[in-house]
Amino acid sequence: MPARLTTGAQTMSSSVEPHINSRCSQYPGSEIKRFPVPDDKVDWTTDWPQYTPVNYTSPSVTKRPPWADPGIGSFTPHFNTLDAAVDRTSFEGDYRLEQGKPQNPRGRTGLTGRGLLGRWGPNHAADPIVTRWKVDARGQKMPHPVSKQPVLQFVSIKRRDCGEWAIPGGMVDPGELVSLTLQREFSEEALNSLNATAAERADIRARITQLFNTPGFLVYQGYVDDPRNTDNAWMETVAVNFHDDTGDSVSELPLEAGDDAGKVGWADVDSSFPLYASHSHFLEVVAKERHAHW
Ligand code: BGC
Repeated sequence: MPARLTTGAQTMSSSVEPHINSRCSQYPGSEIKRFPVPDDKVDWTTDWPQYTPVNYTSPSVTKRPPWADPGIGSFTPHFNTLDAAVDRTSFEGDYRLEQGKPQNPRGRTGLTGRGLLGRWGPNHAADPIVTRWKVDARGQKMPHPVSKQPVLQFVSIKRRDCGEWAIPGGMVDPGELVSLTLQREFSEEALNSLNATAAERADIRARITQLFNTPGFLVYQGYVDDPRNTDNAWMETVAVNFHDDTGDSVSELPLEAGDDAGKVGWADVDSSFPLYASHSHFLEVVAKERHAHW
């Protein structure tokens, strides 16, 4: 959990709709096609003897211990608990085990194994949503021509893996506090701090630390309908909004692509901007919370 969050903040309720991206036929980065799962068969409690999901774990996963778990049977994981440094708890509550393997709490996906995900069960990510107001040359907020509401801008990256625009999030490292992941991922992916001069780097670090030490707004925590999900492995995230209200903190930073991000910049928060995974939903919550255009 992030250490400092606004209290009483409204969180986005977990959707009870059947997941969709998690059933997308073509599994990302492969030729693998999932066993088709219709809406009425997603729920595990619906009896479906004909269900014969495809088993797939990417070779890139099996080659990457300790980032990835070994195969079930060759290690002794402790599920539904903090397992040494690896957080195997789910925001969805305790998940079931079927033949020693975690069962996706949102239902069938048409694919068993781990696909591209390293951990059996929940794979935890963190999404820092850094925002500022869109202002004119005189520093005045610019209302949207249609909604007349002020427009927020957020730091957006173009992901190298899929080419989609996204919040600069990433995986929580074993033993890492989510609050640190949020700050680390933002620095690595959005600010290319590794290519900056020592003086620039110190300035960037100071500004980021200052912003991330302000109370963030908890936007969402829970299951994510991510295209990499499988019957036995799935994504969960904590999305937190850090807002530079006065425009004198990170708003002024020159943004460059870094780490695994292709491009980075300030983008208007607007419902028409297509984004990766559940990121649009997160921005909608932020826009409503800050009474901004959506
Ligand atoms: C991404 C996050 C995203 C999560 C779930 C992670 O790999 O870095 O931005 O929210 O997956 O889709």
